[in-house]
Amino acid sequence: MGLTGGDGVRDGDLQESILGLENLRTCFYTQGAVVRAVDGISLEIRSGEIFGLVGESGSGKSVTALSIMRLISSPGEITEGRIIFRGVDLVELSEEEMRRVRGDKISMIFQDPTAFLNPIMKVGKQIAEPLTLHRGLGGSAARSTVLELMGLVGIPDPEQRIDDYPHQLSGGMRQRILIASALACQPDILIADEPTTALDVTIQAQILDLLRELQRELGSSILLITHDLGVIAEMCDRVAVMYGGHIMEVAETESVLGAPQHPYTAALLESLPQLSQSKERLQVIPGNVPSAVTPPPGCRFHPRCSYTEAVCIEKMPSLVQLADGRQVACHRCI
Ligand SMILES: Nc1ncnc2c1ncn2[C@@H]1O[C@H](COP(=O)(O)OP(=O)(O)OP(=O)(O)O)[C@@H](O)[C@H]1O
Ligand SMILES: [Mg+2]
Repeated sequence: MGLTGGDGVRDGDLQESILGLENLRTCFYTQGAVVRAVDGISLEIRSGEIFGLVGESGSGKSVTALSIMRLISSPGEITEGRIIFRGVDLVELSEEEMRRVRGDKISMIFQDPTAFLNPIMKVGKQIAEPLTLHRGLGGSAARSTVLELMGLVGIPDPEQRIDDYPHQLSGGMRQRILIASALACQPDILIADEPTTALDVTIQAQILDLLRELQRELGSSILLITHDLGVIAEMCDRVAVMYGGHIMEVAETESVLGAPQHPYTAALLESLPQLSQSKERLQVIPGNVPSAVTPPPGCRFHPRCSYTEAVCIEKMPSLVQLADGRQVACHRCI
């Protein structure tokens, strides 16, 4: 099937939007309270790019990813907005239609590979599942593609490993199995939600290198979710900063990390000594992450922001595009 022989990203494709979220809102209805996990976000992922989504714990990153995959289940619900993938609104698709997209055109890998591998199924068979489901491949054709995929994701001795069970492999190798399965059908978009957080540091670097290499070879776009700005700096073309279910800033990675405009992005950067310019001691952003049930009025960040003015409490700033092309949701920047 020529997995490595693809023509990758063509120059003309680079600016093409492949996935657009338009005012996406996802809530959970729990014990009388409404958790506004994703509170009206808009963003665009372009063909062939690695797009980072960064933010503190609870900011809504995973719920965004699961919404795109249409994997939000009761008591959660996408209540508003559109998810436009190649011109089609995924929110409108039936479950049956969505099953055809999932694992084929859009696939996802998660933080903990163990939770998503079946302990009693051979890993080769698990990699083959999307090939069987979406391509109708079976028998020796599936087996040879699986062997090729295992080689592609750097699993040594695929012939030996194909009949292993997950527990016979290390954490890093298990994550490679999941990546192989996610890439089996050469998706247009791979969503990677904290794909290396559960792995130790050297293995983390190997898996990130692998993702970058595969993205170049296969030309897929990647939505890379992380709370680690170091990973963003290493990997991403553009990045969106999420806070309290909102997008605060979107731009090229160098702009966001080099000259952040939103006070929250600046505060996040200052809390990381290895990325900030100064060698001064670690800053902690004062205050707590906002409640997703009773969020503060106006800008979600205003209770923790050093620049808060009356307007920040009264009115939620919308995401606007600045002259340099970046988007920021802050009254100060308009
Ligand atoms: N199944 C659920 N039921 C109720 N609330 C939920 C559910 N899943 C997520 N939430 C809430 O939605 C909000 C966003 O959660 P989400 O998992 O998207 O955060 P995150 O940015 O991925 O955080 P982390 O970095 O810890 O993974 C949080 O307030 C969380 O408590
Ligand atoms: Mg998460």
